[in-house]
Amino acid sequence: MKDVVDNYEVLKKVYDPSDFRKLGHQVIDLLADHLEKVQSDIEQPVLKYKTPTDELKYWQEDFSSSDSEMLDFFKNIIAHSTHVHHPRCMGHQLAVPSFIAALSGLVSDLLSNGTGVYEMGMASNALEKIVTDFVAGYIGYDEHASGFLTSGGTLANLTALLAARKAKAPNAVWENGHQEKLAVMVSEEAHYCIDRAARILGFGSEGIIKVPVNNSFQIETTLLETYLQKAKAKDIRVIAVIGCASSTATGSYDDLNALADFADKNDLWFHVDGAHGGGVAFSKQYSYLVKGINRADSVVIDFHKMLMIPALNTALVFKHGENSYKTFQQKAQYLWDSQHSQEWYNSGKRTFECTKLMMSVKVYSVIKMYGKDIFEKNIDRLYGLAKTFAAILLEQTDFDLAITPQSNIINFRFIGSKAGLEEINLLNATIRDTLIESGAFYIVQTMIGGRRYLRTTIMNPMTTETDFITLLDRIKDIVSELKKGYR
Ligand SMILES: Cc1ncc(COP(=O)(O)O)c(C=O)c1O
Repeated sequence: MKDVVDNYEVLKKVYDPSDFRKLGHQVIDLLADHLEKVQSDIEQPVLKYKTPTDELKYWQEDFSSSDSEMLDFFKNIIAHSTHVHHPRCMGHQLAVPSFIAALSGLVSDLLSNGTGVYEMGMASNALEKIVTDFVAGYIGYDEHASGFLTSGGTLANLTALLAARKAKAPNAVWENGHQEKLAVMVSEEAHYCIDRAARILGFGSEGIIKVPVNNSFQIETTLLETYLQKAKAKDIRVIAVIGCASSTATGSYDDLNALADFADKNDLWFHVDGAHGGGVAFSKQYSYLVKGINRADSVVIDFHKMLMIPALNTALVFKHGENSYKTFQQKAQYLWDSQHSQEWYNSGKRTFECTKLMMSVKVYSVIKMYGKDIFEKNIDRLYGLAKTFAAILLEQTDFDLAITPQSNIINFRFIGSKAGLEEINLLNATIRDTLIESGAFYIVQTMIGGRRYLRTTIMNPMTTETDFITLLDRIKDIVSELKKGYR
């Protein structure tokens, strides 16, 4: 009994609102100071790189120390993170979280009301319907559409393909297990999560049919029929074709109308992986890139990529909402009475997650505060900046632009005096490592056709033309230092 009383005293401290108020104000001040610093002082490092071993050692020592000063802990977390709000952070496809969405995250984490069952997420389930209907409208779907939010593009793509399997495989795999070989078709440039999804679905290596791409890294639609016939000859039933909008490495958009025609002709499910670039549906200027998206049976769009929301936050929208209710046919008596009724407010009927975050609050708050066209503004700014960067690169003889970007992903490499391929590949790897170690910029790298490219994704609307010019100057400095043998 004494334990119970003692524990109560300790736990009262954990749930003391005055502590929350005091520390909360301090944490907000700390974060605001950090944001002011990285946004206004360009000389601040984007990251202070440490090797994984050193980083682990640092935190192991912290873990074994008795210091419980929380403000210092948060300061250290910030210091050991890559600063996505820094205008020179141009690496991965991660949204720069809008401040209102981050604050909504604090509110929703505290309320923790995001479950797939209505009573434990009344507001979040209602907002989720509003937000996904909003997305459906921009996709060009009608009132039959319906969707939900889920934890990331990977999970959303898997969920969509499960729905495809339910709709297109006549020997209901969900009930009977696999009776025949099934497959999906997608470009060889698709994100690896599609390959992973097909394997999780039990399709095996033969069940992920990768169609080659054209010179612009878009699926070669003239090859679709041949690949379909090859599959049929092996008794493989293709159930779906997937369009990339856009692809990950080069940001290329597949011809969605051609894929929709192919799907119609062959009675396939048509899914669009718009995790990265599907958000152009919001933009009058760039929606031409996803012409035909309204013909897809399902569409994935990550809010945590192009749409200013912290990770993870993904919309999966179905052209015919009823399909989304057929994906998982299970009883969960303690949560809801029937799996067969279509209840948007019990979102767990349609999602992998049972408990999930209150994702809708973050998206809704951005729209509420800045208006329905705020996503369009972000897309237009970032895609426009990418065009500017590409134009700068084209003027430079020392650099080679992989392809004219359709989106905000730009791949380029230093070629200088045109040494051999191996040498150029090595040089670009060294450039990237040196840049990361210096902390001046954060960019990544990728291989395209055996060539190593420096890969940038322009995610931060605060990035400017000067940042691009400085990046190229910095790279030239690194190369001349390397030539002098300083490194
Ligand atoms: C085209 C595409 N699809 C899917 C994914 C996976 O999305 P997530 O990281 O949200 O799981 C990515 C991630 O970069 C992507 O670029």
